[in-house]
Amino acid sequence: MTQLKVATGAHAAAILGFGGYRPRRVVDNAEIITMIDSTDEWIRTRSGIIERRWASPDETISMMSISAARKALDRSGIEAGQVDTVIVSTVTHLHQTPAVATTIASELGATGAAAFDISAACAGFCYATAMADSFIRSGASKYVLIIGVERLSDMTDKHDRSTAFIFADGAGAAVVGPSDTPAVGPVVWGSDGDQADLIAQSESWPTAMDPDAHEDGQPRWPMLRMNGNPVFKWASFTMAKTAAEAMDAAGVKPEDLEVFVPHQANNRITDAMFKALKLPSDVVIGRDIIHSGNTSAASIPLAIETLLESGQAHSGQTCLIIGFGAGLVYAGQVILLP
Ligand SMILES: CC(C)(COP(=O)(O)OP(=O)(O)OC[C@H]1O[C@@H](n2cnc3c(N)ncnc32)[C@H](O)[C@@H]1OP(=O)(O)O)[C@@H](O)C(=O)NCCC(=O)NCCS
Repeated sequence: MTQLKVATGAHAAAILGFGGYRPRRVVDNAEIITMIDSTDEWIRTRSGIIERRWASPDETISMMSISAARKALDRSGIEAGQVDTVIVSTVTHLHQTPAVATTIASELGATGAAAFDISAACAGFCYATAMADSFIRSGASKYVLIIGVERLSDMTDKHDRSTAFIFADGAGAAVVGPSDTPAVGPVVWGSDGDQADLIAQSESWPTAMDPDAHEDGQPRWPMLRMNGNPVFKWASFTMAKTAAEAMDAAGVKPEDLEVFVPHQANNRITDAMFKALKLPSDVVIGRDIIHSGNTSAASIPLAIETLLESGQAHSGQTCLIIGFGAGLVYAGQVILLP
């Protein structure tokens, strides 16, 4: 039998730089409560959100991704032509095929890069980080551009009080490359398809387009629906356990952690996880949700960009990231900040 050669990769990988894109239009709670029966105070105290960004027509999935990616490349000191793999995590690219990653790679100048989309909702950035780390260590890739991007406003019922105030738009990117020092810890990830109904598109596209499927005899646009309270409980308690496992897998003790950036779903979930994990009181916590809402796959890189740009977090610090959302899916790992 022929003995095949196998690829060998780098000893370790690191995130080399982050970049983000925030849509121009700021939507505050005063505007939201013209559409749903709620109050500014309820939204602030129950979720932490004061304002969010909704994309305009020209701020497409592709445009936001390219803008975020250019910043990430600049900050990494990597040319687009050096990128050999592009992974885009999104659940709101409304073109079934081709993947948006291929055109993003071409437009950036990552000519010929392997490029594909993944659907891992709010865990997407952590899923993509795990894949990039593995590809680099296996020798499949050298420089991987990972992007979390959403236009959740396209799929949000602006009159649904369970979701209208939460979901938002934006893009966050990172360049992952080879490193002498391990800077991406082992991923702890999984899924629970038994709870798939908790956050989901309201109906399939064929049903949505079928006039006979609806009482008014009209086709309609499907929306995201969420049963928030069970998701809240699952995220607050089960995800703290996953986060603790990710720290353990990386050999990092809670008292050694410097930065904590969970998916920006709800400030109260962040608080519950912080408490359950017994993190030090001076750990820097990502709270980008206050001004950005829940941008799903984009939320973690956007929150990290905010902390780095504002000087609240610094290069080399130990940072725990954990994403969780529709699927249900989850993933967490410890990284060293670029
Ligand atoms: C959506 C969410 C903020 C709601 O908060 P909650 O504490 O669970 O609220 P509940 O659904 O239990 O409702 C509590 C009360 O507020 C009311 N309420 C619900 N939405 C409201 C709104 N937008 N404005 C005002 N009141 C509202 C309810 O009717 C209920 O009233 P009642 O006590 O009189 O019956 C919260 O469940 C959440 O953040 N869930 C997780 C989201 C998430 O993590 N998603 C995963 C990633 S995408």
